[in-house]
Amino acid sequence: MRLDKYLANMGVGTRSEVKQLLKKNKVQVNGKNEKQSKAHINPDTDEITVDGNLIEYVDKVYIMLNKPAGYISATEDEEQSTIVSLIKDFQHMKIFPVGRVGKDTEGLILLTNDGQFNHDIMSPNKHVSKIYRVEAKNPITDDDIKQFAEGVELSDGKTKPAQLERTENEKVAFVSIREGRYHQVKRMFHAIDNEVLNLKRVQIGKLKLDSNLPKGSYRELTQEEIELVKQ
Ligand code: URA
Repeated sequence: MRLDKYLANMGVGTRSEVKQLLKKNKVQVNGKNEKQSKAHINPDTDEITVDGNLIEYVDKVYIMLNKPAGYISATEDEEQSTIVSLIKDFQHMKIFPVGRVGKDTEGLILLTNDGQFNHDIMSPNKHVSKIYRVEAKNPITDDDIKQFAEGVELSDGKTKPAQLERTENEKVAFVSIREGRYHQVKRMFHAIDNEVLNLKRVQIGKLKLDSNLPKGSYRELTQEEIELVKQ
């Protein structure tokens, strides 16, 4: 891995701040000053210090992606573009998506290399809510809201109660579910004789999609945000 990337990934500074540190002879690789941003290091075997302080390789990473449509929720695929391919800076860290959304679904998706975190969010027993913004084909009725609250009968059984919140535009709603069945939201709309035209996930637990994050962009979660997801 490039030295500047390592230092930026470990939170030492932005790429340009890191460059300045290197220029000023503040960075050592195995005890020797290194000035080259593009010097290659091995995170597993090399010892990197800044001003003599060891920069330890943090092996857990938590990323928020504003997913664009057209990418599948997978790490690799021979034919289709995957969301992991969008996460350029963290390819070496064996990241995977936390749960799956459909290829055309947009919005909040988390990626991590922490299996326990994935389990905490995805396990149906943990009841972490996921909120989606739905643009539907037909206006959403009071009866639809009631049906969602009671649970909707699907081919794989009745869903748990879901909250459907209509907006001023009667074809737009926010739906909150605590399960993660295959194409669940689309199938629930289908079951009430409606159709999802556009689906965007906006929240997981208490963590909202960062509205400043452009489509296709990603950033690491803060420690506080990591906790918010689980609530
Ligand atoms: N429900 C769906 O129908 N699609 C998704 O991507 C997520 C939930």
